[in-house]
Amino acid sequence: LVSNALGYLADGDGVRFTGRPKDVETLTAMREGLADDPLRPTFHVTPPANWLNDPNGLIHWNGRYHLFYQYNPTGPFHNTIHWGHAVSDDLIHWEDRPVALSPSPDGPDRDGCWSGCAVDDDGTATILYTGGRDKKQLPCIATAADETLSSWVKDPANPVIEETPAEPEVLRTEDWEGEFRDHCVWREDGVWHQLIGAGMEGGGGAALLYVSENLRDWEYRGPILSGDRDTAGTVWECPELLDFGDRHLLHVSNYEDVVYFLGTYDDGEFTAERRDKLDHGDFYAPQSMWTDDGRILTWGWIPEARDVSAQWDAGWSGTMSLPRELTLADDGGLCQRPAPELTALRGANTHHDELRLSSGDRQRVDVESRAFELRATVRLEDAEAVELSVLETPNRAERTPIRYTRDSEMYVDRSESSHDPEATTATQRMRVTPYDSPLSLRVFVDGSVVEVFANERHCLTSRVYPTSEDATGISLAADGGRATVASLDVWEMQSAWDAEREPSVRE
Ligand code: FRU
Repeated sequence: LVSNALGYLADGDGVRFTGRPKDVETLTAMREGLADDPLRPTFHVTPPANWLNDPNGLIHWNGRYHLFYQYNPTGPFHNTIHWGHAVSDDLIHWEDRPVALSPSPDGPDRDGCWSGCAVDDDGTATILYTGGRDKKQLPCIATAADETLSSWVKDPANPVIEETPAEPEVLRTEDWEGEFRDHCVWREDGVWHQLIGAGMEGGGGAALLYVSENLRDWEYRGPILSGDRDTAGTVWECPELLDFGDRHLLHVSNYEDVVYFLGTYDDGEFTAERRDKLDHGDFYAPQSMWTDDGRILTWGWIPEARDVSAQWDAGWSGTMSLPRELTLADDGGLCQRPAPELTALRGANTHHDELRLSSGDRQRVDVESRAFELRATVRLEDAEAVELSVLETPNRAERTPIRYTRDSEMYVDRSESSHDPEATTATQRMRVTPYDSPLSLRVFVDGSVVEVFANERHCLTSRVYPTSEDATGISLAADGGRATVASLDVWEMQSAWDAEREPSVRE
């Protein structure tokens, strides 16, 4: 028997953990039990312990923001998926709520309550999600049993769609009778519309459209868009259609990346004009929420990039990205900014103006931190590249350099991020269109997460696992010439899980 950070025991047959934490005290105790882990993010949404994947059911309800997530309460691995639940009054401070949705032993969701979304059905909070049973993926519906969205009543008519459509024929695999899951639901001209993600037999991924008067009886319309498998993957998971007025954005997750298409959507058909990745690193299955003032905020799952045994030992796996605000620029391109709400988490500030870097000269910033936001405006001058290194030990044996080059590429170099041989060392990269010269950079570092926003357009989310206690340094350097950091700010970030805060009493 092997125990992990939470004292769970496992043997060759799996995890011996029988309790399903239902009360907030237990969840809080689990969260506190992991608080000393320096790799655990503090201002991102994390599971109290155990496994988290996709964000689900994002909704502003009764004055509070609700974020549900794919959760395995029995261990830090993907199995017996429930919906975990966190709530917030301001989108940045979060509280754990009890597990909201669990598989029913005799239901179509017996093997898991997979990803889905929430809608307001004329005053009733309603979720659509995928139930898993044997080899089937079965769309299900549930309504809120109370105003805190803590428990849900599953519809006796579940599953609300029993068969996959005949055309296109849905991909069958050894494991699944049809790759057919995840839900994006909206109301248009008084009719409910739903997208379900799918793979097509002999083809690529597809986002399939259904319509309904009542959220329960669905009529199939066909794919709004499908992709060829060589460039867009064999299965599209978690499709989401976002309405920007005269233009639409459709994003899909294809096992590797989140691909987005910008274009127009009309009467069941999506015409793509541009296509790119929403993020060039470890970011998957995002879902969005509309704020009351009409903004789109998007969260994605940031998976681990280390061995499963390290996840087991840690007692937790997966975290949410920070919320990003999506807008369209005047030139029609997609902008992604950290949600402005996040500035409320900023603590102590360090500021510099006009830091001049000459080739080969490295300057350390006088901050030691593993939980900070860094904002910089960088002019390359005649340098070939400029480098910002984070989570760096004093001797630089562990470090994570973020490099920006003259040919507008950005790299997160993880080759020296960790002494742990189980942690990934792969370099991640993205092309940064120099819309603005100089480069505008926002970097959020939180334990083992590095989230990079360049020119408010391009994102790269990364996981790194420094082992040294003093991997807390930040330094700047230029290569092959001079560069100027026109302004630099570093803010220590406060925790999103403030034990000092009054617990929610709005039961
Ligand atoms: C995406 C995904 C979804 C599915 C869920 C299961 O990460 O595979 O397609 O509903 O996760 O946890």
